Amino acid sequence: MGNGITQVFARHGYSVTLCDVEPSVLERALERVRKNLERQVSKGRMTEAEQSATLARISTVGDRAALAGCDFVVEAAWERLETKSELFSALARICRPGVILASNTSSISITELMTATERPERFIGLHFFNPVPLMKLVEVVRTVATAHEVYETAYEFAKKLGKVPVRTSDKTGFIVNRLLVPYLLDAIRAYEEGVGSIDDIDNAMKLGCGYPMGPFTLLDFVGLETTYYITHVMYDEFKERRFASPPLLKRLVMAGWYGRKTGKGFYDYSDPNNPKPNRL
Ligand code: CAA
Repeated sequence: MGNGITQVFARHGYSVTLCDVEPSVLERALERVRKNLERQVSKGRMTEAEQSATLARISTVGDRAALAGCDFVVEAAWERLETKSELFSALARICRPGVILASNTSSISITELMTATERPERFIGLHFFNPVPLMKLVEVVRTVATAHEVYETAYEFAKKLGKVPVRTSDKTGFIVNRLLVPYLLDAIRAYEEGVGSIDDIDNAMKLGCGYPMGPFTLLDFVGLETTYYITHVMYDEFKERRFASPPLLKRLVMAGWYGRKTGKGFYDYSDPNNPKPNRL
């Protein structure tokens, strides 16, 4: 999601320093942003001058020390508590005192991440949705320790990015995943129980409820390993079956079938324009 967040920030006039330890990730991210912007130009939604100005506002770095002067840092690392905590502990040492530190986590407790920083009042959750340039929503998440002005600054900042922010508190899954994850897991259970095939369940929810994607297309899009990880965090918090992973999800993740990104999940993406449901 980092490249989408970068694109949105830069498009709305902010200078962005995109940081990753892996140079190839930075190259791919920049390439993705370039392609998205080119598409906007070809569709007449953006001028070439705006495209160049947007790209000129993005710099890439491999060393976290380069983030020292930033006003606002949004972390979009691998969805693992240890990775994010280590990163925030380093950022708290590196960044200037007035910085706002934000996590784009979809499931990990903002309060738990906050404890790695020793800057509780300046820490928030800023949860974007995939694909970031298209999805209007941002969940702005406060903890009991977040300073009021920091929370309001983040809320207003999300608006300046052309997004619609919603306020939510630090309860695992926030608003969207609290409701979305049980629905996605129920779709897998319905399939396991023979209620319908993968494509029939997808079509039913698309055409019967007006959802842009059916649950299996969305699961593959979000990433099965990400969803599987989220189920652990949510089940751990609430101890309710509706948040527990169905066996099939676990099996697909064990097999390395993570969805679109690995070419296989509930669908096979050998032909990306014409995904075929797998026999599971
Ligand atoms: N990045 C950038 N642009 C994209 C894109 C992507 N990943 N995917 C599609 N687009 C663009 C297309 O290029 C197309 O652009 P043009 O208008 O210039 O032609 C436009 O979006 C529409 O695309 P399509 O006609 O191919 O497809 P669509 O009408 O179905 O729209 C969609 C695509 C917006 C992704 C839509 O299917 C949708 O809203 N899907 C649901 C997405 C969703 O629920 N996201 C939230 C996931 S949950 C999450 O992120 C949080 C979490 O914690 C797990």
